[in-house]
Amino acid sequence: MTEELKRYIRLIPKAELHLHIEGSLEPELMFAMAKKNGVKIKYNSIEELQAAYNFNNLQEFLNLYYTGADVLLTEEDFYDLTMAYLKKAHEDNVVHTEIFFDPQTHTVRGVKFESIVNGIIRALEDGEKEMNISSHLIMCFLRHLDEKSAMKTLDYALDHKDKIIGVGLDSSELGNPPSKFTNVFERAQKEGFLTVAHAGEEGPAAYVWEAMDLLNVMRIDHGVRSIDDKKLIDELVKRQIPLTVCPLSNLRLKVVSDLKDHPLKRMLDKNLMVTVNSDDPSYFGGYVNQNYLEVAHALNLTKDDILILVKNSFTSSFLSEKEKKRFFDKVELADRSLR
Ligand code: ADE
Ligand code: ZN
Repeated sequence: MTEELKRYIRLIPKAELHLHIEGSLEPELMFAMAKKNGVKIKYNSIEELQAAYNFNNLQEFLNLYYTGADVLLTEEDFYDLTMAYLKKAHEDNVVHTEIFFDPQTHTVRGVKFESIVNGIIRALEDGEKEMNISSHLIMCFLRHLDEKSAMKTLDYALDHKDKIIGVGLDSSELGNPPSKFTNVFERAQKEGFLTVAHAGEEGPAAYVWEAMDLLNVMRIDHGVRSIDDKKLIDELVKRQIPLTVCPLSNLRLKVVSDLKDHPLKRMLDKNLMVTVNSDDPSYFGGYVNQNYLEVAHALNLTKDDILILVKNSFTSSFLSEKEKKRFFDKVELADRSLR
């Protein structure tokens, strides 16, 4: 790949729409928080921990990801975690980010919902002031738990509507179809939350249909398995439903065996509204620019492809039309100076 394309990727302003804040917990910070909070980690060193980042599927990753999150206890921890991510995002010229958090992972350990939300939001506010990064917060329901638990989590969120723009669905996909969460998504929508869901990561294209038709989601997270279903592709294109794709995640979780086989370029060529994101950057080998760089190299993407992906990231966001216009202008200005 040319140095010019690398520079283009690094310097073009972009939005990130698929980022689990708990998945941005770097080993150094994990060990520091464990020490501070008196939480035991079963690995003796950062190297030993990183040696375990060798996953054969989504579940193997999730097991480690949930254990890692055990070190997060206080509002300050959630603030520090979020601030560390924002600094990385800023280095990558991310000017708008929509981040996920998994409250159930923490509330079951006795952490207060307020501590989680207030810590994250305070960092997002400081990120806006200090780094000019705009942001939204999306609360995910864990799909391996039941709908009752999701409902209780939604109850908590009702007091924080001013801070949480939407709800999503994540965790173990296979065996936990979107249809399991029809009622909670219907209620969330009635309460004014926007909606997204992970679907078609490891699960089949049928789960993407369910997320669209039963949960009424506005975006699909991952959605790479949609490529198996021609009728689904036509529908996603027709409705311009965004798919927040995460190439390095797909590689590390063996959704694809080689980035050269990644469907991103085929998806672009079919006019699907695809975006590039980092998912859980601390665990998968890189933040958003690394995802663009590696997938661009593997699939021979051009500047024009990158520009489409970057524009898609703003189009697919939960920003207002006016805010989108402001970011499109920024992108176009940067594009002209980088050509
Ligand atoms: N939680 C964090 N990362 C996830 C992923 N890639 N898929 C499902 N749930 C997740
Ligand atoms: Zn994800």
